[in-house]
Amino acid sequence: MAAIPAATRKPQRELPLQESRALMRDHFTEHTGEKYNEGWAKLWEAGDFLPWDRMMPSPALPDTLDNHASVVGSAKLVLPDGTTRRKRALVPGCGRGVDVMLLQAYGYDVVGLEYSSKAVEACEVYAKETENEALYRIKDEKASKGSRVFVQGDFYADDWLEKAGLGEHGKEGVFELIYDYTFFCAMQPSMRPAWAKRMSTLLAPNPQANLICLEFPTTKAPNAGGPPFASPSKAYMEHLSHPGEDIPYSEEGEVRMQPFAESGPGALERVGHWQPADTHGIGKDADGNVADYISVWRHR
Ligand SMILES: C[S@@+](CC[C@H](N)C(=O)[O-])C[C@H]1O[C@@H](n2cnc3c(N)ncnc32)[C@H](O)[C@@H]1O
Repeated sequence: MAAIPAATRKPQRELPLQESRALMRDHFTEHTGEKYNEGWAKLWEAGDFLPWDRMMPSPALPDTLDNHASVVGSAKLVLPDGTTRRKRALVPGCGRGVDVMLLQAYGYDVVGLEYSSKAVEACEVYAKETENEALYRIKDEKASKGSRVFVQGDFYADDWLEKAGLGEHGKEGVFELIYDYTFFCAMQPSMRPAWAKRMSTLLAPNPQANLICLEFPTTKAPNAGGPPFASPSKAYMEHLSHPGEDIPYSEEGEVRMQPFAESGPGALERVGHWQPADTHGIGKDADGNVADYISVWRHR
């Protein structure tokens, strides 16, 4: 897959990884707590330092949809009366919207959610520029593309559901697919209980609704700060097994596993866990081996 450049993207400050991460950390040191979302909005407004923005989906997403369909299913939802409709998908913190475009090509009706209104504008421009590119062409010739809508809102609030045209579906169990790509790692660790609770609330009941998480960065030192904050598999496991609950962390920022603790209300169950065949270079080790994981979660 080749990245598709957006004519409107500002030239980026190209920095070595360590410098780029230090700059991100310093920026967000000034935007903690209630100012955290504004920290993201400011980066989008400046537009010249978007180090996560790779202008194309991670190859891990098509690998998951094509090669792990036995776990994640397709874009078609079969209702109890035997009729079908497209699944509704959510990409929270969708950035420039590349994953929204890909899921739409796979037949999902997709909502791309962004706190930054500048990012939403960037999504609209990118979508128009790229929708006929081979990467985003319909995947199943016998079907058609799903719909897409980009909406500004805070993942933790409800108002964007209405703005996305989903008001009639209530506030719970709205999506049959949620794709978390570099959204969990974008949250300060103190926000993770709320992240897990919100995922659990928005995900439709099993068996046809999946939360897919691309786990990244899995090898970053837990005390190295962020974003991106260290996101080993056990962090997803502990938080999604206990949505809304505080999870113990060591002083070094390491998640303490509680394998015998009963799961909490709204807990999601991991139904798949593997390393994708390919991923962006940032998710590989120095030898080019994939370090990211995909995890798939459902209500019990
Ligand atoms: C690390 S970036 C990843 C963007 C995109 N997933 C990608 O990989 O290109 C995280 C994104 O989440 C957005 N974001 C952060 N907090 C948010 C929130 N509470 N609600 C919605 N979007 C949020 C930021 O504006 C930012 O674009």
